[in-house]
Parts: sequence; C-alpha cells; structure tokens
Amino acid sequence: MAAPTTAAMAQNSADNMRMSADSNKRDVRILNIESAKAIADAVRTSLGPRGMDKMVSRAKTGEVIITNDGATILNKMQVQQPAAKMLVELSKSQDVVAGDGTTSVVVICGSLLKKALELLEKGIHPTVISDAFDKACQYAVKFLEEEFAVPVSVDDRESLLKAATTSLSSKVVSQYSNLLAPMAVDSLLKIADKSSGMIDLKNVKVVCRQGGTIDDSEMIEGLVLDQRASKAAGGPTRVEDAKIALIQFQISPPKTDLESNVMVNDYAAMDRILKEERNYILRIVKKIKASGCNVLLIQKSILRDAVTDLSLHYLAKAKIMVVQNIEREEIEHISKSLGCLPISHVDHMKPEKLGSAALVETASVGKGKVVKITGVANPGHTASVLLRGSNKLVLEEAERSLHDALCVIRCLMQKRALIAGGGAPEMQLSLKLSAWAKTLAGLDQWCVRAFAEALEIIPYTLAENAGLNPIQIVTELRNLHASGKKYHGINVRKNVISDMMALDVVQPLLVSTSALSLATETLTMLMKIDDIVPCR
Ligand SMILES: Nc1ncnc2c1ncn2[C@@H]1O[C@H](COP(=O)(O)OP(=O)(O)OP(=O)(O)O)[C@@H](O)[C@H]1O
Ligand SMILES: [Mg+2]
Repeated sequence: MAAPTTAAMAQNSADNMRMSADSNKRDVRILNIESAKAIADAVRTSLGPRGMDKMVSRAKTGEVIITNDGATILNKMQVQQPAAKMLVELSKSQDVVAGDGTTSVVVICGSLLKKALELLEKGIHPTVISDAFDKACQYAVKFLEEEFAVPVSVDDRESLLKAATTSLSSKVVSQYSNLLAPMAVDSLLKIADKSSGMIDLKNVKVVCRQGGTIDDSEMIEGLVLDQRASKAAGGPTRVEDAKIALIQFQISPPKTDLESNVMVNDYAAMDRILKEERNYILRIVKKIKASGCNVLLIQKSILRDAVTDLSLHYLAKAKIMVVQNIEREEIEHISKSLGCLPISHVDHMKPEKLGSAALVETASVGKGKVVKITGVANPGHTASVLLRGSNKLVLEEAERSLHDALCVIRCLMQKRALIAGGGAPEMQLSLKLSAWAKTLAGLDQWCVRAFAEALEIIPYTLAENAGLNPIQIVTELRNLHASGKKYHGINVRKNVISDMMALDVVQPLLVSTSALSLATETLTMLMKIDDIVPCR
C-alpha cells in the first residue's frame, strides 16, 4: 500500500479536527438539553389540582417550605448547570409577566426540548428547528387570541372569581379557595385604576399572622398594621374618631453631628440639661397636640431614637396613641390608604395633613397583635388583607397562593380574555398546528408537527398526576377535539373528560400566551448555544 502523502495527512487531520469540533458542539447542545429537561421533570409532578406539593428544605439554615408554586420551587433549588439555570430564569420571567403558570411554562419548555432533541438526532440543523418552532408559537398565540379566547369584562365579577378559583385550586390551600378568591378579586378591584389600567400589586398589603386557620383570614376595610400600639406610660390603645398623623421626624433630644462630650460638674447644670430636654420634647408634643392629632404613626429612624421614654410619657399624657417602627417602604401605602401626608418636620404639623378614621384599635390576632384602622374618611385605592394560618408553612404558602390569584386578576385586567383550562387549549392547539403543518413544505412540516405533539404534555401530565391512564385519556381527548368539542379538558376531580367552560375551569389568556412565547424563546436560545466557556 502506498504511504499517504503529507497533503493527504494534513487533510485527514483537518477533517478529524472538524469532526471533533462538531461532535463537541453536539455534545454541549445535548448536555444542555438533558440538564434543562431534568429541571422540567422535577416540577412536572406538581402540575394541576391533583399535582403533588414539594417540601423544599435548605440545608444551611434548616429553613423548610411547602409549596406547589413552580417559580418558588425552582428559585430555592440549587442549580449549577448553566442551561438548567435558564429554566429557572424562565419560570421567574413567567412569574413577572403573568404571576401564574410558572410550572406549565417549564413543563412545556421541557417537552419542546425533548422534541427538539429528536429532531437534532434526525440531523436537522438547530437553526431550522428554532425558526420553525418560533413560527409555530406565533401561529399558536394568534389562534388562542383570535379563535379560542372568550372576551371578559372587568365588571364581570363572576368571571374574575372563576379565574381566581381555578388558580387557587391547584394550591396547597385549595380548600380555602372560596374565601381567598373573593379576597383577591375584591382587593384588585379596589386598587385598579380603571381609567389608566395601571395596577400596582404593592397597593395590596398582606399581613400574615400565625394562629387560627386560613378561614379566619379577612379583608380589612381600611388598613391593618403589623406593628402594635405602644403601651408605655399607659397610653391609649383604642381611639375613636381618630385624627392620624404619619410622621418622619424624631421626638427625642437632638444629637450633634460630631462625636462630642459635655462635662457636667454640678447638679444645677445637670438639672438645667434635663429641664432643657423636657422642654424640647414638650414643645414638640404640644405642637402635635395642637394640630388635633390623636394617633401618631412614627417612622423608624436610623439617626437617633424615634421616641424616648420621656416622649412616650408626654404623648400618653396628651392621650395620643403611638405606633412606632413604621418602615420607610410602608409610608407610601399608609399615606395612600389613610388619605394623609407624611410629615417630615414638627412645624409642618397641620390639620389638613392628617387622615381621619372612625376607629383605630389594637386587636389580638393569634399569637400577636395588630393595629386595625377602620372607617377611613378619605381612602385611596389600596386594600389590606389579614391572613391567618395555623403554622408558618401553611401561612407562607397561603400568601404565595393569594399572590398568584391576584396576578391572575391583574392579567385579566391587562388582557381582557379568558380561555378554558384543564389541557383544553393545548390539545386544541396541538390539533390546529398539526393541520397547519400539513400545508407547510420541507423540514418546517416536521418541526411544526413536533411542536404540536410537544404541547400534548399538559393534558398528559394533568392526567398522569390525577392517577389516570394518560395515553388513553389523551387519545380520547384528541378524538373529542377532532370532533369539534374544543373546550373539553380533563376533569381531574371526577377523573373524566368534561367541558371546562361549563365546569368553570378558566384561566387568563395572557398566562397561556406568555407561557408559550417564553418557553419557545428559551428553547431558541438553548438551540443556538454550541459551547460553554467557563471563566473566572
Ligand atoms: N379544576 C381543574 N381541572 C382541571 N385542570 C385544572 C383545574 N384547575 C387548574 N387546572 C389546570 O392546571 C394547570 C395549572 O396547574 P398549576 O397551577 O399547578 O401550575 P401553574 O399554574 O402552571 O404554575 P403555578 O401555579 O405553580 O405558578 C393549568 O393547565 C390548568 O388549566
Ligand atoms: Mg397555577
């Protein structure tokens, strides 16, 4: 056999290098997809009303939480692999955009990745796959918006309630959905600025108190404060016909800017200093009293003590109720809720800056106390909810679930349309996309069909989590959808297929469309990565 020439050897080694670079890129892509899929599998079992909950425990702090919320589970997970982290980010983005559907988005992305892997193995180029998936996603979103969604009016409280109840039905605290859903709807209706459509969830203040059950939770017509009233020197803890001032100045002796010492040599001088301090504080208290104020909310101070024993004593004597330690972040909410203005200097204590309320009282709630302000004369667009729960784990999950329900209503206000749940939209989309794929040419057809099949993961998982035979149920559902029953989905309570609209299982359109778009976007990004470059 003739020995290979130098040119042939060089060619050979170049080919080898290219092949190894290609296989390296393939390996990176496959590794990424596998890791991301592992994340999706981890949360898959918690999808839907019959999904399992997760107990997340943090080894370092010993902190434990029980939750069903996809974003919370993923957020607490310690994920190292960069591609897997992208799925965590995906869930976070869905949480920001829609607030609900954080499990679905990850499950859909996992399923799309699985299909993409199959296509890659057939030799289809990643760019072709991502372009086709992108087109399919746009088609799907358009279909949902134009042909599947039902418009809803913001005044239609019944429909809003249905959507909130569906969102709560898959949570740990689902048995309390008939209490939490109206709370979420009413709070949102109170804070919504109907003219501009602006909704800031910060205007809903949720105070959590351990003790009692979630059934004892209530919406307060007014304001509830986490802090308690000061009992020092026998000051009042209940005031009727209250005039409330929200102050940001301190009622304590001033401090010098520089660290300095004053030498006092005799008792007379000491008396003078004490007298001066007394007079200084008394002057402030008198000014406060003169404004007609009888309830004082005092912001926490980092410069010096906001109040001293002496000032509390004088305030108590003046029959002024004192609530200390108001956080800086709470100021805006309080001033909106009570219709008062924050006061930064005692000279600005004017009656017109005060808020009025029929009653301010300290109430015992479970283990602790809260201050309730009711009968506010000039309330702003804010809402207050007092959540109760028998233990910390339930209470925290109730708060997260209420937040999801609030987000669902916010979604409905932003995009006023509802769609059926229970896997109906995904099954309908799967059929429509498959039909559309037939009209496409070449590789696009393969890819769009794969996208359509990937969406079946939602009904499949809902059935699986409910202990049904997923293949049988999904086939049955597909047949029903093919025969025109487009709102049919999996009734996980009765383990049958029913019309989801008739069952009142509805969800905002925005939750589903954003889940589809975000999942596709993440897939596109993952497809385009062909190397991981570690750096310090
Ligand atoms: N009563 C019901 N019957 C059938 N399916 C339901 C019912 N309630 C909700 N679903 C479906 O369950 C899915 C939502 O499940 P789940 O709330 O556990 O996850 P998510 O909303 O994606 O994420 P998360 O709530 O954790 O942010 C949706 O597909 C919804 O249509
Ligand atoms: Mg949900």
